[in-house]
Amino acid sequence: MHAVDNMTYLVNGLYIVAFSMFIYGLMGLTGPKTAVRGNQIAAVGMAIAVVATLISVRHAAMLNWILIAAGLIVGVALGVPPAIRTKMTEMPQLVAAFNGVGGGTVALIAWAEFVDSAGFSQLHEEPTIHIIIGSLFAAVIGSVSFWGSIIAFAKLQELLSGKPISVGRLQQPLNLILLVGAIVCAVVIGLGADNGGVSQLWMIGLLVLAGVLGLMVVLPIGGADMPVVISLLNALTGLSAAAAGLALNNTAMIVAGMIVGASGTILTNLMAKAMNRSIPAIVAGGFGGAVAGSGDGEAKTAKATSAADAAIQMAYANQVIVVPGYGMAVAQAQHAVKEMALLLEGKGVEVKYAIHPVAGRMPGHMNVLLAEAEVSYDAMKEMDDINGEFNRTDVVLVIGANDVTNPAARDDKSSPIYGMPVLNVDQAKSVIVLKRSMNSGFAGIDNPLFYADHTSMLFGDAKKSVGAVTEELKAL
Ligand code: TAP
Repeated sequence: MHAVDNMTYLVNGLYIVAFSMFIYGLMGLTGPKTAVRGNQIAAVGMAIAVVATLISVRHAAMLNWILIAAGLIVGVALGVPPAIRTKMTEMPQLVAAFNGVGGGTVALIAWAEFVDSAGFSQLHEEPTIHIIIGSLFAAVIGSVSFWGSIIAFAKLQELLSGKPISVGRLQQPLNLILLVGAIVCAVVIGLGADNGGVSQLWMIGLLVLAGVLGLMVVLPIGGADMPVVISLLNALTGLSAAAAGLALNNTAMIVAGMIVGASGTILTNLMAKAMNRSIPAIVAGGFGGAVAGSGDGEAKTAKATSAADAAIQMAYANQVIVVPGYGMAVAQAQHAVKEMALLLEGKGVEVKYAIHPVAGRMPGHMNVLLAEAEVSYDAMKEMDDINGEFNRTDVVLVIGANDVTNPAARDDKSSPIYGMPVLNVDQAKSVIVLKRSMNSGFAGIDNPLFYADHTSMLFGDAKKSVGAVTEELKAL
């Protein structure tokens, strides 16, 4: 009896250390300088939580070492190579995939619990109601999160188009039918637990209906709105893990799940606010059905410019605002941009950077890249702080940004991104856009900014173009 108490104290003590490390690590993620350490601290915390869980189940004589070792080997073999090989620009897909795996695992745990306890009719622990409700919640939300994350991954990896894919008006009724169907399965399973359990087909039906719901919720969401969806899926995975923790009576899962759920929910709210979207609207069937912008029949032409011309325009400006986007990340042009800005500042030009909250492919993407090139934080301006300045600015240099500069979001009610706040780049006196072609951005829609009279396009890889402008500036 004494040994049992000591073991329980040890496990609980280790859990408390692990949770403190999760929270301390999370605090480190608030800035690029402390983020790596924050991640490492949280990872050590997770290792401690795993050891504590192994100690507690070993003590309960439930451990199958061969299965655990096999799981570890498969997990490491599948997880480590992509984590090492993935480029910074592909990080969101990796996050979506890892998040999906988390949701899928939780759904499988709930299924295993169902099978193990003969449809929850032979649960050994009391009270059983929280185990049943926790497992069913975990099964539904985990399955939604797994399949939804697969679609998010496919869209981010460009295996699927970034444009909304929907069944039109039937979308919302269909989603509702799927949700009600999954809930009915859950209720039948829950009520059946008192009567010797129900057929496994009900559990399979629940997982399938929730899975199709996950696919149906994410498919209609246009590329520009993906950031909100990714953080929402993240929050759902956290909540489903917490529910599974409740069912398994595992404190580590409850606390870690709640931390992920809470931080994911806060991030979803912030993202939705930044994009001027409502979260219920996301879940109800995507944003803006039609894809507009590219097919209005008018022949539009864009003006090309040269590095020499861009250099002259900027060298004689009072203020230049640099607008970085995903293309700057792809080209890894941040150091070249900093070098160009130093030259401009040497010529008395004020250089500022306008940062859109969803520029790039992950929150804070542009801030991290520019900080890496040692651009001062003072020069990086958030959208709300700089939007009023564009109409007083001589030259705006757009570097691989597209959707976040699209004036259709402000002016064209039929645009799928209508209502999303954008940088008011089009209001500047002159705009120079650095990109490789006239291709669309992540949302898959045309950008009228590129055809405006005061816009010129400097075609080519952003790093090479910025380098060429820098050479011209040196020669001036
Ligand atoms: P995008 O709209 O995706 O546009 C990026 C542009 O960069 C493309 O039009 C592309 O044009 C150009 N480009 C790509 N490689 C380049 C290179 N090597 N050199 C020069 N240009 C290059 O980017 P954005 O304006 O940053 O907007 C971000 C989009 O991603 C938004 O729709 C946002 O909602 C979505 N999103 C954001 C996040 C987060 S959290 N930030 C997550 C998921 C999705 P070319 O092909 O012609 O070069």
